[in-house]
Amino acid sequence: MTKTRNFIDLTDAGADAIAAMLGDALDRKTARDGWPKGKADADAPLAGHTLAMIFEKNSTRTRVSFDMAMRQLGGTTIVMDAGTMQLGRGESVADTARVLSRYVDAIMIRTDDHEKVQEMARHASVPVINGLTDHSHPCQVMADMLTVLDRSGRLAGTTWAWLGDGNNMLHSIIEAGSLMQFEVRAACPEGYDPSPVVVADAWARGSRFAVDRDAAHAVRGADVVVTDTWISMGQDHAAEKLAAMMPYQVDAALMAAAAPQALFLHCLPAHRGEEVVNAVIDGPQSAIWDEAENRLHAQKAVLLWCFGKI
Ligand code: CP
Ligand code: NVA
Repeated sequence: MTKTRNFIDLTDAGADAIAAMLGDALDRKTARDGWPKGKADADAPLAGHTLAMIFEKNSTRTRVSFDMAMRQLGGTTIVMDAGTMQLGRGESVADTARVLSRYVDAIMIRTDDHEKVQEMARHASVPVINGLTDHSHPCQVMADMLTVLDRSGRLAGTTWAWLGDGNNMLHSIIEAGSLMQFEVRAACPEGYDPSPVVVADAWARGSRFAVDRDAAHAVRGADVVVTDTWISMGQDHAAEKLAAMMPYQVDAALMAAAAPQALFLHCLPAHRGEEVVNAVIDGPQSAIWDEAENRLHAQKAVLLWCFGKI
């Protein structure tokens, strides 16, 4: 029996598979240019397949892009909020995984504790996809890599500057850089660094990752400037944290210190006036709407990889 392919972190796939997924995503995106969004791709490769999605946290992009991704691949979805499932009143993750595996062909879950996704994967007999945890957001970073590749024609050798909180997004970007050979520099205030385990793993893969306390220094010459909310889902809107983050706000002066053609990325939702000012997020270097669209194209590739079709 072949091993079930889970997509919990980018390392589950590895560099070759990620490169293949990004290539397939670009090909499919190009092939259906101008088509109605709900029309299936010509080969409808996931016809007859159903993806169940479980949300323990809010979502707009992940929810809609996965739903449309399955439609475009010829499959269907079932979308569930954990609060209205038995999971929400104490049924175990393991039993939920065993039951859903009898009904559907893959499970995507968005939750808080990363261990819950791993638990789901241990007990499911179908692929499990991480739709965001407090630890990582690999599907978003697939879309971010696709955006950089699509816009600039290259990924390896680029330099990405992260500004702000050492959070789930940064963890997946660090992992991505170490696999796909781009440099990541993170400018984070003291006390908000990324997980030392994530950093050590990336260094062990030969990553050139570094933390910098100086935002202007971190962005100098960068090809990509990327940030995220300072207050992630489930965190308190603490004044102390907002104050610590303020020197890392992406403004026009910071963008000007990056490479002349640098792209600005943000996974969204944005808190305009906090982590980024309007002049940047709405400015000519911002690629955020392509980035949001690319969730759809990247996730189609993730789904196809999980089903062994890439
Ligand atoms: N970027 C992202 O994951 O968006 P949602 O929270 O809307 O899914
Ligand atoms: N870091 C953010 C990402 C949202 C897509 C959060 O976890 O809320």
